Formats: sequence, C-alpha cells, structure tokens
Amino acid sequence: MCGIIGCVNRGERTLETLVDGLERLEYRGYDSSGVSLLGEELSVTKTAGKIADLRAALEERPLDGRLGVGHTRWSTHGPPTDENAHPHLDCSGEVAVVHNGIIENYQGLRDELAGDGHTFTSDTDTEVVPHLIERALGRGASPEAAFRDAIAQLEGSYAIAAVVGDEEAIFAARSDSPLVIGVGKECAEGDREYFLASDVPAFREYTGKVIYLDDGEFARLESELAVTDSDGQPVEKTVNTVEWDAEETGKSGYDHFMLKEIHEQPRALRQCLSGRADELAGTVELEEVDDVSPSSVHFVAMGTSYHAALYGVHLFQQAGVPAQAFHASEYATVTPPIGDALVIGITQSGETADTVSALREARSRGARTLAVTNTVGSTADRECDETLLIQSGPEIGVAASKTFTGQLAALNLLTLATVESGRTRRDVVPELRELPGRVQSILDDSNAEEIADVYHDSRSFFFIGRSYQYPVALEGALKLKEISYEHAEGFSAGDLKHGPLALVDDDTPVFAMVTGDDEIARKTVGNIKEVEARDAPVVAVTDGQSNAELYADHVLRIPEAIPRAAAVLTNVQLQLVAYHVADNLGRSIDKPRNLAKSVTVE
Ligand code: F6R
Repeated sequence: MCGIIGCVNRGERTLETLVDGLERLEYRGYDSSGVSLLGEELSVTKTAGKIADLRAALEERPLDGRLGVGHTRWSTHGPPTDENAHPHLDCSGEVAVVHNGIIENYQGLRDELAGDGHTFTSDTDTEVVPHLIERALGRGASPEAAFRDAIAQLEGSYAIAAVVGDEEAIFAARSDSPLVIGVGKECAEGDREYFLASDVPAFREYTGKVIYLDDGEFARLESELAVTDSDGQPVEKTVNTVEWDAEETGKSGYDHFMLKEIHEQPRALRQCLSGRADELAGTVELEEVDDVSPSSVHFVAMGTSYHAALYGVHLFQQAGVPAQAFHASEYATVTPPIGDALVIGITQSGETADTVSALREARSRGARTLAVTNTVGSTADRECDETLLIQSGPEIGVAASKTFTGQLAALNLLTLATVESGRTRRDVVPELRELPGRVQSILDDSNAEEIADVYHDSRSFFFIGRSYQYPVALEGALKLKEISYEHAEGFSAGDLKHGPLALVDDDTPVFAMVTGDDEIARKTVGNIKEVEARDAPVVAVTDGQSNAELYADHVLRIPEAIPRAAAVLTNVQLQLVAYHVADNLGRSIDKPRNLAKSVTVE
C-alpha cells in the first residue's frame, strides 16, 4: 500500500531524508514514487517504477528545500504512470499533496472543480485535494484554513500531507489510514526536526520518539508541532518510545528480509512468551486480558492472519468454547449473531481496512473487541477494548512469516490465560518454552532448499493437513503462491478426494503434514496413499512418529511436539520451501508483485 514521508528542519538533508524514507517504506508495496520540496519555490519530481528510477530522475534534476513530502504509490485509481504518481499539484503549482487511502466522493468533487475551471492532469482521486486547497486559497483562506476546508469535504479513508504555498510547514490529517509523527532533535536555530510517515521505519534511524495521529486530528509541522482537533482546538498528545532500533529494519547480511525474518523466529517467540508464560509455575499472565473470559469467540482476519484465526478456532474449541473464524471482509455481509461473543481481530499491521472495519462493525453491535497485533499505536490497537501484542519486532518482507508464528504463540497464551484449565497450562507451557529451540533446530538442519531445487518448476503445489495442520496447509500454499507466483493450494487432507484429487498428477508435489501417531496422523497417511497412487511426488513434513515416510519421496523433519506446537514447526519448514522456490525462480521475494504489506483499502 502507499507510503508517506515528510520532514521539516532537516536543512540540506531534506531530499536525502525523504528518498531514504521512501526506500524504507518500499516493503509496503508500490509502483511509483515522488517527492516535493519547498525551497525558493515548490518543486516536484515523480516517476513510475522503483525508487531507483526516482533517484535517477533526481540526479538529472536535483531538488533542494527546507522541508518536503514524499510518497510511494500503489495504484488504485489509474495505472502506474508518472502523471498518476504523487505528489499532486494544483493548477498554479503552489500546493503539493500526498495521500494514502481512497477518496470516495472524488468524482463529484472533480466534476465540480473542473466546472470551476480547474485542470486535472492525472486519473487519481487524490488530485482533487490540491485543487480544493487552491480554491479555498483563492477565496482568501489562510494556508491552514484552506487545508482544513479541503479535508472537510472529503469522504473515505485518507492520510494526507500537504505543502501549501510558501508557508514553511507541512499540514497533515488522517481518517482511517495511519499517520505517525517522529519527534527529532533540536537543531542549531532552536527549531526541532519533525518527521511524518505512514509507518515508523521510514524515519526510525533519526528518532524513536513518536506521536500517533488519531482520526479527525490535524497536525502542523514547522519549527514546533501543533496537533488540533477538527474544531481547531489544541490536542495534548502522548510521545511514545519505539522499542526496536533502526538496525532491526536492516537485512543483517541475509539476501532478503523474509529470510532474515524466518531466522528471527526463535527470538520473536521468546519475546512473545517472555514475562507471560512461567514454565516453573505452569502459569500464563496476560495483563491485557485479565478480565476476559469469553463464552464464545468470533475471529475476524484476512490472509495469513485468517489462517492464524483458524488455528485459534481449534484452540478455543478444544477448550470447550464455541469459536468461528470469518474473513473480515465477509463479516458485515453475513452479520452473524454476536450475542456475548468476544470479537478478536488478528492483524499484524493493525491497519488492514477489512479487519478494522469488521471490528468497528462488531463494536457498533455492542461486542467487546480484542486486537491481536504486532503494531503498537495501530488503528486496531487503539480502537479495540483490549490488545494482545505479539511482540515479533518489525517485519519488513511483505509476506508475513515471523508474525504468523507470533500470532500462533499469542493465541496459545490467550487461551491458556483465559479458558484453558490449570492442568492444560502445566502441560502446554513447557512445550511453548521449548518452541524457540525447536524452531532453531529446524533452521539449522532444514533440507527445504534441496526440495525446492527438485520441485521449483512444478505445474502446481498442493499442501494437506488435518486439525491444527489444516491452517498450516493453507498458509504453506499462500506463502508459496504469493512469493513464487506458482500455483499452490492448501486443503484439509480429507477434502482432497472430494474433487481436487482430479488435478493431482506426477507434476503436482503434495506436501503432507503428519505429526504424532494418532488417528489424525493415520488418516493423513491414508490421504498420502491416495495421492501416491496418482503418481504425485509426496513430501512428508513429519516428526517421524507415524509411518508417513514409507510413502514419501522426501521428508522435511521436525522435532516431536504436542499437536498445537507441531503446527508452528511444520510451518517453518513450509516457509523455507516457499522462500527457496521463489529464490530459485528469481522472484522479488520481499516485494512480490501486486501485493502490499499493509492493505488499507477494502
Ligand atoms: C500474506 C500476507 C497477507 C496478510 C493480510 C492481512 O503473507 O501478508 O495475506 O496476512 O493482508 O494483513 P494483516 O495481518 O496486517 O491484517
């Protein structure tokens, strides 16, 4: 999704700060970018393609200025062209605007402005904003009043930053789209550096002090910062401190962020469990959900987080608590009876528009809501009654890896703290504490790369599993398809023979998760035999307790663990398979085509 960066009082480093910031936001997914700086006059450079293309354009025609804004665009209205890239200007070229989100009433505004003689040069919804500001300026409004006047006319979701005329300030506002302000150091003249971005990594190397802007608030960044509400009244904001450092947003010698993040999972798990799960006492303390004891649960989530939700359903149901998982985008359409259900939104970013809107729907219907997220200060965090942080650290690769693992661990903590028995806690807590070490042993010994070498050009990849391994099968397929662009599907192992088996042949490797040696494992081995009889190559992801290996062409080994923990382990092997298949095919692993890290439109 689109990214915003802005800065004031950075002197000669203004351009460099903006372009480096855009590079830090690349992980969100984009197809064009641009910057605008205010110096002697307002100047803009923007281009379709990568930040490298923007850098090349800036080398030909360098910009300078004391403040500025930048943007990475992920196309919604109009194709990725130079003209559609942000910043967008008014007719006079004196107002520059960058925007994330969607302005739903843009067509009416555009027709009206065109009728007033304004000329549009792009297909975007955003371009109405600089023209609205220009119109208000023309009617005698001050730059700030003109900005407020424009914002007041918008419907939809937006994070907007603007430079207006020769006013030495950046104006910003948000509604349903994140914006965070970085409070930098004082500079020589007594002014303070301020940064503005859609996400903290954009400016983390300069400051860890941040202020999260709320919906309906306005910010004015100049020598000082002023945050006001929609009536112009000052708002007291809390300055938060970001716990992670800029180093954590670098690749640390790995070829890709995704590989680094896969390898960070032991640490991410420790961070999630630390101070919460006490092995000696066999207890779980979660201050956040102290007084939560749901009698039923609805999960709302999308993509990978939805797979975590399916896993959460198993946990709650095993504990005797009715639970259902919904694609957040479907929640409002099915309007299930909520009763006294706790509605849990799982979202690593905390900004997924579908999930945020399902949570709002739930709240409007009187439900209590809980966010399971990695992002402090995100919309889900701020709007839900409670938040359970997964504490995975920043995840830059677009494909979720360590945050999925963090979600599974956090869901275990949640059920153990709220609905599971003391006896279960005593059995499960030691297993959770073993997880980081077990994941590490997989990372040290995995043969996933060899298997990827053998199968990377297969026609299709299937993944099957039962119980806790079913969400893992879905997740394994999603991971593979999104970063390798190869066809992959996940199935509950039992469902394979109800149709999909027709697609299985000797060019369809089937990855089967078989752990333990119980009825579930025996039935899955039966499903392996079905695909083997159709000549499909079988890769068993197993702890070796069953006889699955007898029917497998290859084995991906995991350490023995209880079923719910084994699902975390098999998933790590599948992450590595997906990574190495994509790497073999030379794909853009950290920024796969057509995908975005934070999907802020419904
Ligand atoms: C897959 C992936 C997406 C996200 C989905 C929800 O690797 O990253 O499917 O899981 O867009 O995102 P969050 O968890 O931020 O709500």
